[in-house]
Amino acid sequence: MSRDFASNLLPIYREMLGFSMTKLNGQTNIYDIVKKEKLDVVNKPISEAHGLPNECYNNIEYTKIERKKLFEDKWVVVGVASSIPKPGDAKPFDLLGIPLILLRNKKNQVKVYHNVCSHRGYKILQKKCYIKNVIRCPYHSWSYNLDGELVATPHLGGMDKHESKDFDKSLSGLKEVRSFIWLDMIIVNISNNEVPFEKYIKPLKDRWSKFWPEKDQKLIKHSNDLGYFKLKAKCNWKFAIENYCESYHLPWVHPGLNSYSKISDHYHIQGLPNRFAGQGTVVYNPRLKGKNKFPCFPNWPKNKINIAEYVALFPNVMMGVHKDHYYAYWLEPVNHQLTIEHMEIYYVGNEAANSKKFKNLRKQNLKLWYNVQYEDVHIIEGMQEGRNSPSYNGGNFSPVMDNPTHHFHKWVATNIV
Ligand code: FES
Ligand SMILES: [Fe+2]
Repeated sequence: MSRDFASNLLPIYREMLGFSMTKLNGQTNIYDIVKKEKLDVVNKPISEAHGLPNECYNNIEYTKIERKKLFEDKWVVVGVASSIPKPGDAKPFDLLGIPLILLRNKKNQVKVYHNVCSHRGYKILQKKCYIKNVIRCPYHSWSYNLDGELVATPHLGGMDKHESKDFDKSLSGLKEVRSFIWLDMIIVNISNNEVPFEKYIKPLKDRWSKFWPEKDQKLIKHSNDLGYFKLKAKCNWKFAIENYCESYHLPWVHPGLNSYSKISDHYHIQGLPNRFAGQGTVVYNPRLKGKNKFPCFPNWPKNKINIAEYVALFPNVMMGVHKDHYYAYWLEPVNHQLTIEHMEIYYVGNEAANSKKFKNLRKQNLKLWYNVQYEDVHIIEGMQEGRNSPSYNGGNFSPVMDNPTHHFHKWVATNIV
């Protein structure tokens, strides 16, 4: 058999054997994993649409494409600036396996670098630490300053010769990742291809400027003692987002929350261009005990005082905006069926966020959100299990109650191709 003839048959054999076909450039084509019709139907009007198919939740090859298209190519949350508060603070973070370093340099700027040594590729930073001057790679001790510049290369030119005329250190610094800080979130665009973040976020900022003007947003302070928890969800990260977008499940999944903010008090939010979706309530009024009350954002209009909005900014952060606190609940997708959810809670000014006077209220508020999010974890894990059913076609939406969730499914179906 000639070599040419054999290579012509190879794709046919592969298909017969059930292997996924690959393009000549080695990249897997999304339509080799998910049939085009299954993605196209997601984008139909809601009464005719189905949701994303099972492959988007349980196929490892699909997840590799998703990492590129929905994470590397988008603006994505990888942490919060207040978790590295002092110059020299640094921590590693892996985004679906991509190793990153988050640090604060001597100019007090938050920087994100690829966590890989430019010498032989060792993952340099293994755990959270304070860096006085340099990040030193444990393998051959090449060292980088907090601006990512390679500043020391021991014995590079032979014993006791730390330089070489054939080696230009300035070309071997750490590779910086494009990043932006908004509402304390560290947001990165790894492929450096998206529109500037200020432009990307403008539709949501404009929406919130009516009751949460920018000068009020600058007042948020992370609570150091009672402002963080994390939950592990044995499911795909998308379930957390699509569940967050709708209030349809309130009466059955969150009876406590539903007692003061009923399903009928909610309205839908669908961002245009399609980058966010969620819901709002007109009766945010939690029953926290005690004589103190949290201070409110000073410019929040009196006639909107009981409005709260819950918006998922795609792909991986769910925000909650209230008159007296804000939270960012961001997702760390570990793999296609494991997600860590990080809750970061903020109050209006340092006294509300950190003083003894408000500690009891902060404790109650943290508990309230922990319970609500914990209730959701059980639901989204059950959805992962349901996706093992070959009979499930992605689902049929309620034409009235599921609009924001459909909005998110459309975002995925459009951006994955
Ligand atoms: S791999 Fe880092 S110094 Fe060699
Ligand atoms: Fe929920």
